[in-house]
Amino acid sequence: MSHRTHTRTADDRAADGRGEPDRPESPNLDFAGTTPYEDYVHADVLTHLQHPLSDDPGEMAFLVTTQVMELWFTVIVHEWETAGRALREDRLPVAMAALRRSARELEALNASWRPLARLTPAEFNAYRAALGEGSGFQSAMYRRMEFLLGEKSSSMLVPHRGAARVHEELEKALHQPSLYDEVLHLLARRGHAVPRAVLERDLSQRYEPSAEVEAVWAAIYSGDRDTDLARLGEALTDVAELVWRWRNDHLVATRRAMGAKTGTGGSAGVAWLEKRAAKTVFPELWTARSHV
Ligand code: HEM
Repeated sequence: MSHRTHTRTADDRAADGRGEPDRPESPNLDFAGTTPYEDYVHADVLTHLQHPLSDDPGEMAFLVTTQVMELWFTVIVHEWETAGRALREDRLPVAMAALRRSARELEALNASWRPLARLTPAEFNAYRAALGEGSGFQSAMYRRMEFLLGEKSSSMLVPHRGAARVHEELEKALHQPSLYDEVLHLLARRGHAVPRAVLERDLSQRYEPSAEVEAVWAAIYSGDRDTDLARLGEALTDVAELVWRWRNDHLVATRRAMGAKTGTGGSAGVAWLEKRAAKTVFPELWTARSHV
């Protein structure tokens, strides 16, 4: 935000109590309506979206951490959609820049577990009942992240039937190529033997690992270490690792806060999250390493 120079008026001097002569470097205080900062950031909207459901003072941190994570999900979806489009257009540097930004954003997302990472069951119980059936499982933006990673599932749209915009966005994302689909098409255009069945797969289904794709990555990693495709593989591996870390940090925080109780969303809780955390993102990028 710029601190624009302007000539200080008598009102300015009254406002900040400094009666010294005009200081051209002092910030502008005189705006007719809202400030340009507010027009851009909508801080007034953002900072009035916190409506805790209990009287417990600890709930605010739970609510805001969840909101902060939703904002990071939104940025990361934007980066991966940018990367996917750029890959389709063979603009690899643009895709790489978006993927690298997303890795830094995933680090910030993961760091935001801190305020919740050590909740005791008693602390969490102080507001848990107030959450009712609310659960991050119903997060549409998280679901779009999973879809972009290839973890497609039409049943995940069901909770959003009643919300037209969200449902429409998810429906579109379900049928669009994931980030990984775009990568595999690029590898095929570069002459790698990605099977036709993989390239023409039903995009609304979960991506299943393929031995041939694993062989493609093994070949890319066995060659010259500094090719653009090897760098792409590493950028995707960074993303995969950081998503896996988010899932594991979530699992450990949940284990500390509620042990083996049933989740507010109705799942088996920790046992269900363990299964989710056991999945690898971009599986062949990991298994190919055994063959290099
Ligand atoms: C210590 C606090 C938390 C606990 C105890 C917890 C617990 C759970 C549990 C038990 C589930 C499984 C579904 C269910 O039955 O509800 C779940 C899912 C989920 N939670 Fe949390 N959660 C916590 C914090 C958060 C936060 C801050 C977010 C950020 C948005 C979040 C996002 C999610 C998401 C996205 C899922 C679905 C995961 C998937 O589909 O693989 N959770 N959580």
